[in-house]
Amino acid sequence: KSISDLGDLRGKRVLVRSDLNVPLEYAEDGTATITDDGRIRASVPTIKALSEAGARVIVSAHLGRPKGSPEAKYSLAPVATRLGELLGTDVTFATDTVGESARAAVDAAQDGDVVLLENLRFNAGETAKSADERAEFAEALAGLADVFVSDGFGVVHREQASVFDVARLLPAAVGGLVETEVGVLRRLTENPERPYAVVLGGAKVSDKLAVIDNLIQTADRLLIGGGMVFTFLAAQGFEVGKSLLEKDQIDTVRGYLDQAKDRGVEIVLPVDVVAATEFSADADHEVVPAGAIPADRMGLDIGPDSAKLFADKLADCRTVFWNGPMGAFEMEPYAAGTAAVAKALVELTERGALTVVGGGDSAAAVRQLGFADDQFGHISTGGGASLEYLEGKALPGLTVLDETS
Ligand code: 3PG
Repeated sequence: KSISDLGDLRGKRVLVRSDLNVPLEYAEDGTATITDDGRIRASVPTIKALSEAGARVIVSAHLGRPKGSPEAKYSLAPVATRLGELLGTDVTFATDTVGESARAAVDAAQDGDVVLLENLRFNAGETAKSADERAEFAEALAGLADVFVSDGFGVVHREQASVFDVARLLPAAVGGLVETEVGVLRRLTENPERPYAVVLGGAKVSDKLAVIDNLIQTADRLLIGGGMVFTFLAAQGFEVGKSLLEKDQIDTVRGYLDQAKDRGVEIVLPVDVVAATEFSADADHEVVPAGAIPADRMGLDIGPDSAKLFADKLADCRTVFWNGPMGAFEMEPYAAGTAAVAKALVELTERGALTVVGGGDSAAAVRQLGFADDQFGHISTGGGASLEYLEGKALPGLTVLDETS
């Protein structure tokens, strides 16, 4: 069901689950700065549409991973301010989730008003493993509202009270953001226009095993960079010096390399890397062949020849999915590889290919490197969620809506 299937929402209390989990930095005086507000921006259209339809909008979200009780650094208060700026209207911030402040804010809300509840994860019931332990919190949340709209794409892979259980307790629909995200990811899984390439980066190969497994069945090319590439290089018998390495995954990775070969899937690895003496922007660094990283150095980015190779391998693609930076892009000496992939995707987008950037880190990377969201086909708000979708896993936040519609 979409929002339009919920009927006339004027005067209705609508609980929206959004993903407002944005990176925050705190100055010594306690001032918070949101370093990438992409997820808040992406949540605005649904909230706005509900408000304009006359609903009393109760936005619920999490920030970080607090352990089930309030912690000042995980408060959503700074997010409430930014949300209000982007909506161009006041947002009432409730200082709890289902307590007195939340109930008072909801009771006082007029048609069109927007309330943001405090971080859902300040309540242990939100993330509890068993449905029984989540039930009380889910019921309290549902008690605040008449209908539920699931719009937090970044959390649809979580079986949590505000994502999963609450959808069983209220008439529920999916929001526009989730609809868009699922629509784009479906184009990657169902008959993608070929050649279809996937660029994978990020720190750990162990986080991406299931998706690699799946991509070997569906993609034509797999380009690997980031910290995880050193396990691939080690699997080919190369020395990786002090680079990030997951020794216990070497055999698994070897298996993937063999499988890819059998299936005719091309795995593209860097031919050179930027190797530094330590993980620091000021460290001595040099470009070395990927097969010969000195013992006292760590690879922190793909090198210039690899950047060119990756751009060449992407040039004829009609569909590209990218998850994970190619290097430690937040430090200028190690940003060029990530920038080169971003540039290659921008050029492809201009030529009409479908380019999808998935995940908080990759999205933050392209923005930090000065690219605009509209230079890509789609920037997903979900990291883990988009990977699990591509793995072909059932996502609890989506299946629950099928079950109830
Ligand atoms: C994310 O950052 O990917 C989502 O907000 C989900 O957060 P989580 O991994 O802490 O559940």
